[in-house]
Amino acid sequence: MTELYKLAIIGLGYVGLPLAQLFLKKGHSVYGIDLDTNKLQKLTHRKSYLTDLSDADIIDMFNWKFNIGNSFDAVSDADAVILCVPTPIDAQTKPDLTFVRGAMTSAAPYLRAGQLIILESSTYPGTTEEELLPIIEERGLKVGQDISLAYSPERINPGQDVFRLQTIPKVVGGVTAKCTEFARQVYQAVFDHVVVVSSPKVAEMTKLLENCQRFVNISFMNELSMMCDQMGIDLWEAISAASTKPYGFTPYYPGPGIGGHCIPVDPLYLYWKAKQNNFEVEFIDLAHRINNKMPEFVVNKVKKSLPRPIEQSRILVVGVTYKKDVNDLRESVAPKIIQALIDAGAKVKFYDPYVKELTLDGLKMSSTPLNRRSVSGHDCTLILTDHTGIPYPSIVTHSPLVLDTRNATGHLKHLGNVILM
Ligand SMILES: NC(=O)c1ccc[n+]([C@@H]2O[C@H](COP(=O)([O-])OP(=O)(O)OC[C@H]3O[C@@H](n4cnc5c(N)ncnc54)[C@H](O)[C@@H]3O)[C@@H](O)[C@H]2O)c1
Repeated sequence: MTELYKLAIIGLGYVGLPLAQLFLKKGHSVYGIDLDTNKLQKLTHRKSYLTDLSDADIIDMFNWKFNIGNSFDAVSDADAVILCVPTPIDAQTKPDLTFVRGAMTSAAPYLRAGQLIILESSTYPGTTEEELLPIIEERGLKVGQDISLAYSPERINPGQDVFRLQTIPKVVGGVTAKCTEFARQVYQAVFDHVVVVSSPKVAEMTKLLENCQRFVNISFMNELSMMCDQMGIDLWEAISAASTKPYGFTPYYPGPGIGGHCIPVDPLYLYWKAKQNNFEVEFIDLAHRINNKMPEFVVNKVKKSLPRPIEQSRILVVGVTYKKDVNDLRESVAPKIIQALIDAGAKVKFYDPYVKELTLDGLKMSSTPLNRRSVSGHDCTLILTDHTGIPYPSIVTHSPLVLDTRNATGHLKHLGNVILM
């Protein structure tokens, strides 16, 4: 019989809340800690703030052994403490570990011998041992002897079925063999497969390798998209044809610019850390620069494609989140593109089933209804996010011009008013 653990999960966002649900489902108890009173209030009222969890899921969680709060004293009762706090970049694109350090410092007074601490936030190799270990040992607890410390990257994919979380292999690396074994046991209790690596550094690098691979390859597709535009080639058709090769080709797809808190951010963590070690990762630098060009490319393409000057044009933007089927706007390029279109003189409205309101330069915009009138009343529909369930055929039927950065309407391009980017 598997042991039942008491968990303290710090950070109840896209990563922490589904992880809490997974442990609860398997009978473990979870104390969720977050400083965001808005989130805590929603949970108290049994309301979900994540697209992947319903209100009914939240009710179920509280019917199991779930407690929440903003106080860290519950840490003292936990067998394992898991940190799932944000790791953004600062204005100079350098790692901002404020949340990681802050969470560990707040938990430290409540740590005791025999516990396990795991960092799940995406970060550069070395963070667990360089940042968390000293905070823990300052408490007089020796890592590897009195207390265990490990890193395990989160690989959740929001917008997909959350119950698949347990089937995604969980990579883990502890500071010592004893730390790794403790972490392996805890994850083994809820995940189907646990993949043990030799150190926290390797586990940290694993996550960055996965995200850098996507960053570099999607940026390459974005560069090819700009090139194909110049050369009059349909890149989407070429990707589709190349994908028929039974070996050696992995498709990646272009878009309006890579968004989200992970893919465009995590590689910059690695870039920064490599630089500290006198190594410049040129692929990351190049991918970052290409990615930054995309919003301008999209805006210029809109300007060139409109039948009249942009100052006299009305543009309907469809989809503003950084990827489909989520309500997450972090690092999304849509606000930048909308702002640039407005600055160029266009009248812009947006529709997103997951976003009610956008704030741009102090200006608040509300999502407009998507119907025949709203679509035909604009000179152009610009698709930035290809959410499932949007009536794309109807958009193509009623819009004078569709500019599509996601190939949501590629199957309708024969109708003549669709431009794929
Ligand atoms: N969202 C994803 O798809 C995803 C996937 C893999 C990895 N990650 C990584 O996981 C980490 C968390 O990401 P997320 O998307 O869940 O972020 P999030 O912003 O949705 O959630 C983080 C939560 O931590 C809370 N928090 C911040 N500081 C705190 C503190 N000191 N004490 C307690 N709570 C605190 C915030 O209020 C927030 O609710 C990041 O490093 C991210 O890169 C995210």
